[in-house]
Amino acid sequence: MKKKIMVVFGTRPEAIKMAPVVKALQKCDDKFETVITVTGQHREMLDQVLDIFDIKPDFDLNIMRSGQDLTDVSCRVLQGMRDIFVNKCRPDIVLVHGDTSTSTFAGIAAFYANIPVGHVEAGLRTHNKLSPWPEEMNRQITGRIADFHFAPTSSSRLNLLNEGVDGDSIFITGNTVIDALHIVVDRMESNPELVAEIDNGIKRMGYNLERLSNGRKMVLITGHRRENFGEGFLSICKAIKDLAEKYRDVDFVYPMHLNPNVRKPIQAIFGNLDNKDDGNLFFIEPLEYLAFVRMMSKSYIILTDSGGIQEEAPGLGKPVVVMRDTTERPEAVEAGTVKLVGTDYDKIVSTVSTLLDDSNMYKSMSNAINPYGDGNASKRIIEILSE
Ligand code: UD1
Ligand code: UDP
Repeated sequence: MKKKIMVVFGTRPEAIKMAPVVKALQKCDDKFETVITVTGQHREMLDQVLDIFDIKPDFDLNIMRSGQDLTDVSCRVLQGMRDIFVNKCRPDIVLVHGDTSTSTFAGIAAFYANIPVGHVEAGLRTHNKLSPWPEEMNRQITGRIADFHFAPTSSSRLNLLNEGVDGDSIFITGNTVIDALHIVVDRMESNPELVAEIDNGIKRMGYNLERLSNGRKMVLITGHRRENFGEGFLSICKAIKDLAEKYRDVDFVYPMHLNPNVRKPIQAIFGNLDNKDDGNLFFIEPLEYLAFVRMMSKSYIILTDSGGIQEEAPGLGKPVVVMRDTTERPEAVEAGTVKLVGTDYDKIVSTVSTLLDDSNMYKSMSNAINPYGDGNASKRIIEILSE
């Protein structure tokens, strides 16, 4: 009898990181029946990823509403998943990913329905429940519920062991984000026409990569963390504004997250973005994954508060300046390619300036390292599920 595996995700990063797992499961269709449920916690940013990886959901809760809070998201996921388990599909196991509200509340719904839970990207910890907020607690709660823990690194395994999780239920697999990265890099390397098409797409979005052909540098920026909303984001925006004025020969490109809380401070500091032409400052819509990986590979420095980018960029040999006070991904910090600066204006400006001015410092942070996996994490997860 085939085992029915339900993979649940809802936001951009979960989709990117679960896509290789879905693909690997679908290849083993003699052993598994794969059911894909998306919550639609993100809508446009999720759909971008579904398109790139050609994934067609079996169920879509379509929960995104503008202005909804964490309780709204959580209730909609919990009730929507309950209805699927009761009325539409009862899988043998549910796989959830990481630290989002989708993953935690889909995990709780599965637990209430007495369905075993596998947690992909398990065991990352800051041990500070307010940072990242609410993700640290989301991940801890999912870790209490899960029956199988797919930990990306040995330190994430250790975190789980220290919390009393049974060692036999923890498997070190690497992070599936590296599988996703390999899939898209391979696709681009084998197809120059595709790269030209991607570059044209980026140009249509508002940034022309040809600007970099004469040695000009580009700083790629993203930001969306809830704990940075308000003062934190204003300080980030002021730092970007002043850096762009100080370094007129460097481009600063910010593909903006669709969360309105991210866009408000950007508008407050930079004015009406529609009419913005500051020469070296580019605010663009969120890029689809292939285009974003292309932008990362062409960037000089990445300035971000993202989790996934802290895992991808070191593999591409790009220094990452992280606008957070804590990270649940200490491996790249220890290796020296990721630096935590928080949202402090002075620290952001001085760290980016040092990297732009001091080539020795730049070299020491731009060594390509890959603590997060070898691109075979999904294969390992499927092997463990088979057993
Ligand atoms: C969520 C996750 C966070 C993850 C991030 C990745 C939680 C609590 N947070 O945060 O862990 O790092 O996604 O990006 O689960 N929106 C759109 N279209 C989209 C996506 C978002 O319009 O495609 C807008 C909507 O108004 C939405 C809002 O952004 O309500 C916020 O989205 P939400 O999923 O609540 O939070 P994120 O900050 O994206
Ligand atoms: N990403 C993307 N387009 C963008 C910005 C980011 O495809 O415009 C990708 C990025 O490569 C990474 C993931 O989205 O794989 C990170 O998502 P996000 O920063 O939203 O969430 P986090 O990783 O912080 O949970």
